[in-house]
Amino acid sequence: MTEARVFQPTLTICTSANEVAIAAAKTFADAIRQNPKTVLGLATGGTPIATYQELIRMHKEDGLSFQSVTTFNLDEYIGLSADHPKSYRMFMQQELFDHIDIAPQNTYVPDGLADDVVAFSKAYESMIQDSGGIDLQLLGIGSNGHIAFNEPGTSAQSRTRKIGLADETIKNNARFFEHLNDVPTTAITMGVGTILEAKRIVLLATGESKADAIRCAVGGKVDPECPASFLQTHPDVTLIVDKAAAAGL
Ligand code: GLP
Repeated sequence: MTEARVFQPTLTICTSANEVAIAAAKTFADAIRQNPKTVLGLATGGTPIATYQELIRMHKEDGLSFQSVTTFNLDEYIGLSADHPKSYRMFMQQELFDHIDIAPQNTYVPDGLADDVVAFSKAYESMIQDSGGIDLQLLGIGSNGHIAFNEPGTSAQSRTRKIGLADETIKNNARFFEHLNDVPTTAITMGVGTILEAKRIVLLATGESKADAIRCAVGGKVDPECPASFLQTHPDVTLIVDKAAAAGL
């Protein structure tokens, strides 16, 4: 097997989490204005919320339109229905889709109740391809270096599939649930290979709890134990981070 080529991601270090959100939203808004039919890959978690708020503001105050945009979300918890209050579909409705003019049929989030996850995952990959592929992918990062729900040990070629969540991920995400035991232990996630097919990738990270993950993502070698480090094999990755998240670089 030949070694994948390694690129240097573009690094933007902002003074605050708010600045991260403004820079990220501007990148997404510019892409939509340049190509109103752009296909976006979207992420959940605490980090992108401020970016979504800024995009909503741009829609309401600056006329940014999502009418012809298509979106694909990275992942969904297995066992949670679309209308479950803690599902990622519900998160996206509440944090973004319900506040902008996107066509509901153009928003795709994996189905956490799919009977046949293998067949669903294949179909999700086909839908991404049929849309022309993801033009711009938004990512957060787990404190263990995961992207989407690709936990340490994931291969660079992995595709959309069912995955077991790492204990650290379950603990980190427990803050969104009432009890630790309520956090699903499995999810459907786009694979690293799926993510790396996006034409451009923007990863956001804020806060000191992400400093180690950012260091292993860009400050070290490509290593499946830090799935975000596979981003070094993509030619167009921008990291937008605050000072705290950049502290280990
Ligand atoms: C979850 C999501 C990831 C996200 C990560 C970090 O595990 N599946 O896509 O990047 O959380 O989330 P946060 O931004 O809340 O730290």
